Amino acid sequence: MTPLPVIIDCDPGTDDAIALLLALASPEIALQAITVVGGNVGLEHTLANALALVELAGARVPVHAGAARPIRGEFTSAPRAHGENGLAGVTLPPGGGAAPGLAAEIIRAHLRAAPAPLTLVGIGPATNLALALLAEPDLAGNIAQIVLMSGARAGGNVTAAAEFNAWSDPEALAVLLAAGCPLTLAPLDLTHQALVTPSRLARLRAAGTGAALATACAILAAQPPHPTLPGPPLHDPCALAWLIRPALFTARPAFVAVSCAEGAMRGQTTIAPAPEETANALVLETLDADGFFALLGERLSRLP
Ligand code: BDR
Ligand code: CA
Repeated sequence: MTPLPVIIDCDPGTDDAIALLLALASPEIALQAITVVGGNVGLEHTLANALALVELAGARVPVHAGAARPIRGEFTSAPRAHGENGLAGVTLPPGGGAAPGLAAEIIRAHLRAAPAPLTLVGIGPATNLALALLAEPDLAGNIAQIVLMSGARAGGNVTAAAEFNAWSDPEALAVLLAAGCPLTLAPLDLTHQALVTPSRLARLRAAGTGAALATACAILAAQPPHPTLPGPPLHDPCALAWLIRPALFTARPAFVAVSCAEGAMRGQTTIAPAPEETANALVLETLDADGFFALLGERLSRLP
C-alpha cells in the first residue's frame, strides 16, 4: 500500500485534535503539512493546539498558520462546545514554532510541486482551501480529492439551518463545491453516528497506555454533554477514517449546494442525490460506529 499524500486544514478543536492524532498514527496517510484556520476558537489557539498535538504525537509535520477570519463577514467561534482553549480546558505541553508561509500559499506550493495529485482534508471553515483555489484555480487538476467535514442533510448545529463549518465560511465552501475536482463530504447527519458514549470512551481508554491516547480520552471526557444526543459527536475523525478505512462507510453521489444568503438560511447545504455525471460530491451516509471507534483505539494506541 502506498501512503496517500495528504494536507489537513483544521481548527483544533476537540474533534479536530482526535482527527490529527488519527492521521499521525495511520500509515495509510503521508501527512505533508497541517494548515490551520480560525474556527472553533481563534487562530491563536487553533495554531498553538495543532503545534502541541504534533509534538504529543512525536511527529515531524510542518504546521502553518492561515486565515483568522472568513472570506466575508465576521469571525465567530464556538467556545461553548470546545472550551476557551479549544481543547475543552485540557492543556497540552506547548509544541514547536509554526513553519513559515501562510496556509493558502503553502497549499498552492504543495499542489504545484507534488509529483502526484494530493488529497486535501478540510475539517474547519474552508477559508484556507478556498483562498488557495481562488488564487490559482488550475491547481484543482493537481488535487486527487477534497474530503470535507461540512454541511448537513437537514438541520444544523450552529443555526437551525446550518452546520458550523459551512456556516462559518459558506463562500469558501461554495468555491470548493464548484472546483471540479473529486470531493467527498462528511455531513452532520453522518458524524452524528459517531457518538462518544460512556462505553465507547471506556473501551478507547483501555486500548493502550500512551500519553497521546490518554490525552485524547481526557479531551473527549471533558467535552460538554450534547443537548439531545447520548454522547458528543466525533465529527472530524470521520473525514480521516474515510481515507483510512472506507469500508466503514456507505456513500452516494449527490449535488451539493450551499446558501451564501444573509440571514437564517446562511450556510445551509442542500444535498440532492444525483447521477455521477451531474453530482459534484460523494456524500457519506452511514458509518459503522463501533468499527470506527475500534479503529481509533487501535491507531491512537500506537502513538507515544
Ligand atoms: C464541525 O464544527 C466544529 O465544531 C467541529 O470541529 C467540526 O469540524 C462540526 O459541525
Ligand atoms: Ca473542526
